[in-house]
Amino acid sequence: MRRVNIFALPVVRAARRLQASGNAADNAWIFWEKRMPLIAEIPLNCWFVAASSRDVVASHPFAMTVADIPLVMYRNSAGMPVVMEDRCVHRLAPLSLGRIEAAGIRCMYHGLLFADDGICREIPGQDLIPTKARVRVFPVIERHGWIWVWPGAPELADEKLLPRTIAADHPEWLTAQSSLDYDANFRLLIDNLLDFSHLPFVHGKSFGADAKWATVRPSVKRQPRGLRIERWIADAPALASARGLAGQICDTWQGYDFLVPGVLIMETCYCKVGSAERASHGRPEPSDIVVRNGATQAVTAMTPTTSRYFYATAIPREEAGQAMVDQILDVSAKAFFEDKVMIEAQQQRINRSPDTEVMPSAGDNAITMFNAILREFGTARQPPSRSKIVMT
Ligand code: FES
Ligand SMILES: [Fe+2]
Repeated sequence: MRRVNIFALPVVRAARRLQASGNAADNAWIFWEKRMPLIAEIPLNCWFVAASSRDVVASHPFAMTVADIPLVMYRNSAGMPVVMEDRCVHRLAPLSLGRIEAAGIRCMYHGLLFADDGICREIPGQDLIPTKARVRVFPVIERHGWIWVWPGAPELADEKLLPRTIAADHPEWLTAQSSLDYDANFRLLIDNLLDFSHLPFVHGKSFGADAKWATVRPSVKRQPRGLRIERWIADAPALASARGLAGQICDTWQGYDFLVPGVLIMETCYCKVGSAERASHGRPEPSDIVVRNGATQAVTAMTPTTSRYFYATAIPREEAGQAMVDQILDVSAKAFFEDKVMIEAQQQRINRSPDTEVMPSAGDNAITMFNAILREFGTARQPPSRSKIVMT
């Protein structure tokens, strides 16, 4: 069922007035309403990567915005991550400017103390603590080096829905991970990850991607909460991340799950020439695999115009050491920076011409399918909590 954006029409009308006034910055905002899903259409009933485990500590708060909700994160005295809305209920100062104490987090404006459950336990100079004096707390899971947050309905937060990533501390994979910020709407990053036909053009040097990456169409199948995408690039040079096989002619098999809200979990196998035929273009025979790499990438929408891209590269634990994974991470980081340059420039062009339609091509079918999934999942946003000012 298609959701009707009740906000769009007045905004589009306002756009006409703004266009007449020539206000380019405001026109850019109209684009979000017309062409991009509103931040309100981000599916909230999903696990989002909100931080690297190493960023969330017991000594000071860590601020992050997920789905346009400002969050503050810290570790409690048991070492467990706590995630709250980054807004004190008193006079709405950010708690991320606060102080972590044994009992919770203290707002450093007028000193209200909130326990890990978000309930205010102390108001300096006041005995009575109103029952409304509580900050929203979000379900959180720490897994494989990332802190995952569920910004939607807490009663729907289910650990079983956490994507099975290939990332830090994974029993089978040795990994390295990092992140990259974009001045771009999350959908542009997702589109990029759903269409690898850009590889020879954007990553011709960094990944050494052959022209076949642009012409071979992958198989795209629907699965619960996302897509399954697989392809063979037969009889072509291996990517630069293929370790000892980089640049050598092989058959490359690549398969990934792409799940809401924008999590890619991928395996790439560089195989002997002829493997694609032997496997009937299905998953490669283990005896044909020469090099196998893993990866997870997660797009987190921060605001309508900013996104954080978390990524991890991996190799099977028994095959090589950390230096090799770090080397692959370096190659990937260079390539992802190439994506960032292109996507941010694309965003700038979009901002300047908010009425211009995109022209889908044959390589865009995964994008079209995932858009439909986003629409399906993106309807359950809760109204933002409106904290009442607690008078002291
Ligand atoms: S705004 Fe937080 S204590 Fe006043
Ligand atoms: Fe790319």
